[in-house]
Amino acid sequence: MTESWDTIADWYAELVRSGSALHDFGRDSLLTHLPEILPGQRVLDLGCGEGFIARAVAARGATVWGVDSSPRMIEHARTAEKSQPSGAVFSIDDGCTLATVATASVDWVTAGLSLNNVSDLDAALAAVHRVLTPGGVLIFTVPHPCFEAPHSTWTEIEDGTTRRVVGDYLSEAFWRSSNPNGARRAGNQHRKLSTYITALMRNGFEIAAIDEPTPDRRVAAAQPQRAALPPFMLFDVRRA
Ligand SMILES: C[S@@+](CC[C@H](N)C(=O)[O-])C[C@H]1O[C@@H](n2cnc3c(N)ncnc32)[C@H](O)[C@@H]1O
Repeated sequence: MTESWDTIADWYAELVRSGSALHDFGRDSLLTHLPEILPGQRVLDLGCGEGFIARAVAARGATVWGVDSSPRMIEHARTAEKSQPSGAVFSIDDGCTLATVATASVDWVTAGLSLNNVSDLDAALAAVHRVLTPGGVLIFTVPHPCFEAPHSTWTEIEDGTTRRVVGDYLSEAFWRSSNPNGARRAGNQHRKLSTYITALMRNGFEIAAIDEPTPDRRVAAAQPQRAALPPFMLFDVRRA
């Protein structure tokens, strides 16, 4: 069976809810770039999945919309919202168009590990630019393009430590991980670091910060081989 985000949505929702150290770390890394309190602020969470970033942002007082192209993910997000209401609202939409979101209607866009899934990065960035107010901020994470390139793997060396073997960094394409227990079995778009940066500049964004968060204790305990590598790259950019 060829997997998609919709077919793995039940598995992904359970993974996130049961406390994945890597996903908690990714969410928290993104949240550190947002103000602690956000009353009156309008936030769009692009590629919200089961909604754990959207709900955390809503808990800071913002009005939050979560959109995702997977109907099953949106079902999970609505179910979670019903059992523990945060005020976030969820709907199906394609991040490449954001057709359900009005022009200049949000102050912030968050996108946790989702822009590496859209088929057309320029279209998605143009859509985000359209829906943000002037000066609005986009904060997003992607798997670190250098260390999470297609077919990267791990190897044990003579001193007993496990090291990353970098894969096909220059192959910018859709690829699917062969790991049956990994999210990227649903496939994702690998892009070079320079591709992200130039696409941001081409679509009218100014870079405020780029971060490569150091894995915290939770990640180091769960996956010690990751302790000295940033699993994600974070972009904090402003709509010019
Ligand atoms: C790794 S999950 C991240 C979900 C959530 N942001 C999180 O951090 O748990 C990637 C999400 O991107 C969504 N996605 C993929 N392509 C998309 C698109 N074109 N538009 C909107 N969402 C998309 C998938 O359905 C999936 O829910």
